[in-house]
Amino acid sequence: MPCRIEAAPPAKAPRSCGPLSAPLAWIADALERLSRAGLERPLRVRDGRQGGVVGLNGRQLFNAGSNDYLGYAGDVRLTKAASKAACAEGFGAGASPLISGHSRSHDLLERAVAGLLDVPAAVTFASGFAANSATIAALVGQDDRIYSDERNHASIIDGCRLSRAQVHVYPHRDVTALDTLLAAAPAAGRRLVVTDTLFSMDGTITPLADIAEVASRHAAMLMVDEAHATGVFGPRGSGLVEEAGCADGVHVRTGTLSKALGAAGGFVAGHDDLIRWLRHAARGWLFSTAPPPAVAAAATRAIGLVGEEPSRRDDLRHRADAFRARLTSAGLDLGGAAGQIVPVVAGPAAAAVALSARLADAGFFVPAIRPPSVPQGRSLVRASLSWLHTESDLERLADAIVTCLR
Ligand SMILES: Cc1ncc(COP(=O)(O)O)c(C=O)c1O
Repeated sequence: MPCRIEAAPPAKAPRSCGPLSAPLAWIADALERLSRAGLERPLRVRDGRQGGVVGLNGRQLFNAGSNDYLGYAGDVRLTKAASKAACAEGFGAGASPLISGHSRSHDLLERAVAGLLDVPAAVTFASGFAANSATIAALVGQDDRIYSDERNHASIIDGCRLSRAQVHVYPHRDVTALDTLLAAAPAAGRRLVVTDTLFSMDGTITPLADIAEVASRHAAMLMVDEAHATGVFGPRGSGLVEEAGCADGVHVRTGTLSKALGAAGGFVAGHDDLIRWLRHAARGWLFSTAPPPAVAAAATRAIGLVGEEPSRRDDLRHRADAFRARLTSAGLDLGGAAGQIVPVVAGPAAAAVALSARLADAGFFVPAIRPPSVPQGRSLVRASLSWLHTESDLERLADAIVTCLR
């Protein structure tokens, strides 16, 4: 019998709270400004698992709002792997990795990540966010320079800030601009080029082979974040580095275990010495309790499934191609999206919220994405596709988007 989480007991009347004490009063003003700008974000409560259909705030909706690209987040094979590890190793890791938190399950996971990416070593973090931010700060410091795509994920942006290096932001996917910036760099100091491979908001893909060529010509380290590409791209499912055939030109590969792999956590993979260094310098790994071994075991099982079930990524990519083609043939501009993340730009935040609400009324959950996740004036609804959606499901979704836009 499937396990159920009991619904919360009927809510007591919330304790009435008076005005915030004076030093916190600015928060009420800031919230009021967010609300007036239409930027306050709702927190939805999900009932049950992620799936092709999802229960949100008591409604069952077509689910185009998860990163569960391969349908593994609710897969019982991951649950079983997690239960087995929890029985053997307990639930909590109990310590940071270097003290005593690095269990057998963590060790197996790091070997599995390195195997998937076909590199000598890997280190895993509690989240993809921690992997990116801690790694950047471990690779460069205040005498160094970072070259970062303007649409990189927040975890990369925060890592750049944390590092105190000089940050040069180049226009989205603009290799010529990157080349020009690197050519103007002084000889002293390290250089780090950093980019997402599949961009999470735009669904665009970075021109990896060209970026690698420019980075190499200017003796820069190249770090790429494969968060949304892991499991989905590449003949073996390791991501876009594999698909572009430029593993030799990419020095630092990061990703998450929380999206297509359906578990949680982040990773960095590459040369042995890189990983050894991160185990001494990546503060988000050193000074944080290791995630539960059960989570590591579930992620390891998912990596195994990526190897055993290549048809999931093939199906997903074919269906995503057909979905995008259906939208573009209806006249929509998808801004160069090329994978399973498909944005429909609505412009102002209110327009994106209204479009998302119309879609929800029609039975489709396609979340609105607003600043600060996207620049002002570029709010969108973002359809994230999953292997759990059939071709005809996606035809219905595309038709609903077209109808709701009219
Ligand atoms: C491009 C990118 N990198 C990193 C992350 C962070 O990953 P995690 O959710 O595992 O912290 C995300 C998450 O949304 C992302 O979109």
